[in-house]
Amino acid sequence: MRYTFTEYQESAAYLREKIGDFVPKAAMVLGSGLGELGDQVENPIVVPYGEIPHFVASTAPGHKGQLVFGWLSGRPVAVMQGRMHHYEGYSYEEASYAIRVLRLLGADTLIVTNAAGGVNHDFHAGELMLITDQIKLFLESPLRGENLREFGPRFPDSSYLYTPMLQDLARSVATQQGISLREGVYMYFPGPQYETPAEVRLARLLGADAVGMSTVPEVIVAGHCGMQVLGITLITNMAAGILPQPLSEEEVLTAAAAAKERFSALLLGCLNQL
Ligand code: HPA
Repeated sequence: MRYTFTEYQESAAYLREKIGDFVPKAAMVLGSGLGELGDQVENPIVVPYGEIPHFVASTAPGHKGQLVFGWLSGRPVAVMQGRMHHYEGYSYEEASYAIRVLRLLGADTLIVTNAAGGVNHDFHAGELMLITDQIKLFLESPLRGENLREFGPRFPDSSYLYTPMLQDLARSVATQQGISLREGVYMYFPGPQYETPAEVRLARLLGADAVGMSTVPEVIVAGHCGMQVLGITLITNMAAGILPQPLSEEEVLTAAAAAKERFSALLLGCLNQL
C-alpha cells in the first residue's frame, strides 16, 4: 500500500478538528511498558488510533493504541501510547504513518522510546541508553516508492538522524538528575522472534549496542521530514546468548515497570528544556 499526501492530510485534518489550534511541539512514542507517561498529560485530548482515518491499530502487548494531545512538563505534546510494528503485519510505511501526520500538525521534534536487548557486554538489564545512531541494514525502507516531496527529498541525509543537540540535552539532564545513561547504537531486527545468539554476535560485530524491533522506521521518516529526534532505550534484558537463560516477554515488561520512574524523569526533564 502507498499512501498519498492527501491521505496524510486527511488524517491530520481529522485530528485538527479534535485539537483546535493546539500545536504539539514534540511527538512522543512510548514503547513497551512505558505508555503510562501518557496518563500524566494535562488537559488531555485522547484519540484512539481506530478513529483516525488511515491509521492502523497497535496490537502489541503493553501498547494502548491512542494519541494523547496536551501538556507535559510544560510543553505541548502529542503522545503515542503504543506504536505500530512491522511484526504486527504492517508495512514499514504503515508502521511510521503517524509520524508524518504529527509533523503536519506542527511537531518539529520526535522523542522515541523503546525496550531493547543489550548487546554491549558492559550493559545491564534495567539501564537506560541514549541512542546515538541506528543500523537497519538491507530491510525495506519506509521511504521506498514514490517520494512525497512535500515531506522531504528523495535521498535524505542520515548523518545526524539523532539530533546532536538533543543528545547533549539528554546527557546534561541525566547528569543533573543523577540518572545513569549509557550511549550506543540501536540495531533493528524485524522480530517478532527474539534474535538468535548468532544474530546477536553479528550485531555486536557490526557495532550495535542494543537490538530491538521498533523505532528505526519511525526515525527514518522523521529525519526525512526534517524533525529533530531524541531516542532513549530501556535495556530490558541482555540480548540472546549473552546470559545463560532464555528471553521472555514477561521479563521485558517487568524491567520496564521497574525503570518507569527513572525513564519518566529523564524524558520529562528533556521535554521541559526543549
Ligand atoms: N531483542 C529485540 N527486541 C527486544 C529485546 C530483545 O532482546 N528486548 C526487548 N525488546
